[in-house]
Amino acid sequence: MNVLIQGGGRGIGMALAERALAAGANRLFVTARDPQAAPAHSKLAHSKLASDDRVTFLPLDVTDEASITAACAQIADSVPQLDRVICTAGMLQQGDIRPEKRVADLRQDNLLHLYQVNALGPVLLARELWPLLKGDHKLHFAAISARVGSISDNRLGGWYAYRASKAALNQLMRTLSIELARVNPNGCVATLHPGTVDTNLSKPFQGGVPAGKLFTADHAADCLWQVLDRLGPEDTGLLHAYDGSVIPY
Ligand SMILES: NC(=O)c1ccc[n+]([C@@H]2O[C@H](COP(=O)([O-])OP(=O)(O)OC[C@H]3O[C@@H](n4cnc5c(N)ncnc54)[C@H](OP(=O)(O)O)[C@@H]3O)[C@@H](O)[C@H]2O)c1
Repeated sequence: MNVLIQGGGRGIGMALAERALAAGANRLFVTARDPQAAPAHSKLAHSKLASDDRVTFLPLDVTDEASITAACAQIADSVPQLDRVICTAGMLQQGDIRPEKRVADLRQDNLLHLYQVNALGPVLLARELWPLLKGDHKLHFAAISARVGSISDNRLGGWYAYRASKAALNQLMRTLSIELARVNPNGCVATLHPGTVDTNLSKPFQGGVPAGKLFTADHAADCLWQVLDRLGPEDTGLLHAYDGSVIPY
């Protein structure tokens, strides 16, 4: 099994990279904006599972299209097909960017930046990796979305940019699922909700999380990996939660 974890340098992505090795991946490609500085780089260097050149770290920033093209070209030079791709890039706040509580907080540049980071990476990767996705091999092409990206589930409001960018991600992946089905009958495209997970992204917002509902990254990765294991082509184009349920868009 050849696996790509985009954003596998830390957080849920790092746990997914370790999960992929434990599942016996022959080749594992892990991307991060600065791979040498990513926690996964030192962690996997000390892992027995990562020996024998199974793991390749590549730089990739989803806001830099040239870096997507370059990383995918290196993958295409190394393997003829990919069996599992999981894209994890996501941000909620950073520097001056904060999740908006009210319409007065909206700023065009922040809205656009979250859209670029949260929504666009997976389909640009799919474009570059298309020859490795085509065929009749079993394939899971997934991106980590979020329940708050569900339009029908939106009863609280707020978090305009994050919600809208994850809703856009869901729509882009749904559209991809239809096209991919024409070139790989055994492919499954999925967006995934990991639950509330103890990572840098959720740290400032963990206060109201009920006891037992804040997952470790390892637990979330285990759940998501198993969800993907159970999905086939008949499940393509949907948003799946960590517990296997389907979240309506
Ligand atoms: N934690 C939660 O409770 C929760 C809940 C629902 C959904 N999610 C989603 O889960 C995903 C993973 O988040 P996390 O919780 O693991 O948070 P995290 O530890 O902050 O990780 C964020 C990931 O996004 C990557 N990333 C950010 N900006 C990027 C860019 N411009 N280009 C490429 N990669 C970029 C980071 O890569 P670098 O190493 O390059 O920085 C990192 O791998 C996100 O999509 C998030 O929206 C998380």
